[in-house]
Amino acid sequence: MCNCIISGAVVAKLLTSVHAEPQGFGMQSEILQRLRRGRVLVEYSSPNIAKKFHAGHLRSTIIGNFIANLKEALGNDVIRVNYLGDWGMQFGLLGAGFQRLGSQEKLRENALQHLFEVYVQVNREAEQDESVRLAAAEFFRRLEQHDQQALLLWQQFREISVKEYRRVYERLGIHFNHYSGESFHQSKIQDVLTSLQTQGLLKTTEKGTGVVDLSEAGDMSSYCTVLRSDGTSLYITRDIAAAVDRKEMFSFDEMIYVTDKSQSGHFWQLFQILRMLGHSWAKRCVHVPFGLVQGMSTRSGDVVFLEDVLDEARNRMLQNMHQTRTSKELSDPALTAEQIGISALIVQDFKGPLISDYKFNWDQVLQAQGDTGVFLQYTHARLCSLLRTQASVSHTHFDPCHLQDTRSLSTLQHLLRYVSYLLRAALGGLTRACIPRYDEVLLQSALELQPRYLVNFLITLCHLVSSAHRDLSVKGSALSVAQARLHLFSCTCSVLASGMRLLGITPVQKM
Ligand code: ARG
Repeated sequence: MCNCIISGAVVAKLLTSVHAEPQGFGMQSEILQRLRRGRVLVEYSSPNIAKKFHAGHLRSTIIGNFIANLKEALGNDVIRVNYLGDWGMQFGLLGAGFQRLGSQEKLRENALQHLFEVYVQVNREAEQDESVRLAAAEFFRRLEQHDQQALLLWQQFREISVKEYRRVYERLGIHFNHYSGESFHQSKIQDVLTSLQTQGLLKTTEKGTGVVDLSEAGDMSSYCTVLRSDGTSLYITRDIAAAVDRKEMFSFDEMIYVTDKSQSGHFWQLFQILRMLGHSWAKRCVHVPFGLVQGMSTRSGDVVFLEDVLDEARNRMLQNMHQTRTSKELSDPALTAEQIGISALIVQDFKGPLISDYKFNWDQVLQAQGDTGVFLQYTHARLCSLLRTQASVSHTHFDPCHLQDTRSLSTLQHLLRYVSYLLRAALGGLTRACIPRYDEVLLQSALELQPRYLVNFLITLCHLVSSAHRDLSVKGSALSVAQARLHLFSCTCSVLASGMRLLGITPVQKM
């Protein structure tokens, strides 16, 4: 019997289970099996066509992707939806403005940029000129009445924008099952209004708008406008219709919306109205709010397009890599720089509670030392490099007694969680019960829909395994010692990589 601090059998069991299932490690854990599973619709990103793609949209994109990844890994059937801002008065302005200011050629060359320019220009004009405002309102009215010509132009704007977006999301490693949008649920809007009416929930104000009373006392001290006086719909009206439509189309068990916290009131109203309409499933609709990011800009100024942020992250990272000359043997340094740059953005964003605001700073985000995405990638790449150079040493069989030094033990302890004495007593008889900590971290992330537990777990793991890597040589050690260490490094590398993937990060093998 070996005199081990952590039982050799436990170490062997842990590392063997990681080794056997590098991707799914932790997922099969008993504590995760108890979570409810079902069909989950996650709506995220949802930019507005012709408007800025601001830092809030970037946050929604990466947070939503993480939630979708996590839900999927936990065995749910996940539907990823992008709900574009593709309807509303901005299309009135855009439609009215495009006839004078737009160019088909520029639209083909760079759709997002051109539509944005036209929109900014026509907005400026509308501020001064009543006739521009009237023309915009008229164009939107035509759209809502399905005027063929107006619809054709709108459709072109939408299609070209979606195509562009798809391309940029791909750089982020993000995809959607459905590109829906505010325009999608028009036929449902009338049904929703009719239901509100027949249930006596729709009131007409003196100004001629349609409202729903949300006050407890029924005294209109709090209400929500769902119909303009000219009969056109609003953002909330379209959201009510979209929710009802989605329930019918996808029969989801849970629906998650990811937007900044300024929309919390909107979602509260939405869920409230759905409940008033008798949709009991509204209690399984969740809004995940996040805080604001200040100061995210690129060398060319404020962030307007997602692509600019990705370019900036890639270019800055590439420059850092040239300076430290780490990029010499890479086959595609720009791609690696982009993947590292994106992971830096993600880790920075996920480190704290999502609801907190934060100040953005490129230098801080891209630091190689410190708790950054660059550090995660660097640690992962170094482990990969070690495993490549030691590929000839088979370590499927190893003796856990060689992992009783402080460095190995701290890493192992981070991967393990001993069921406390108390709990053991309560469970009775489970004297050696011990389960991986990774699954606990996943559980907490899933219950709270917060990535910080996983991020911080991975950062600590990186610190521990870096020290172990520095102090525990593989090369030159006796074969049995080398095998045990390699096994530990290889398993840690797997846990790190699968955690990173859940976060939406592509782990790089070299950097
Ligand atoms: N397009 C909206 C915006 O940029 C976000 C949409 C959020 N989702 C929703 N179902 N309302 O603010």
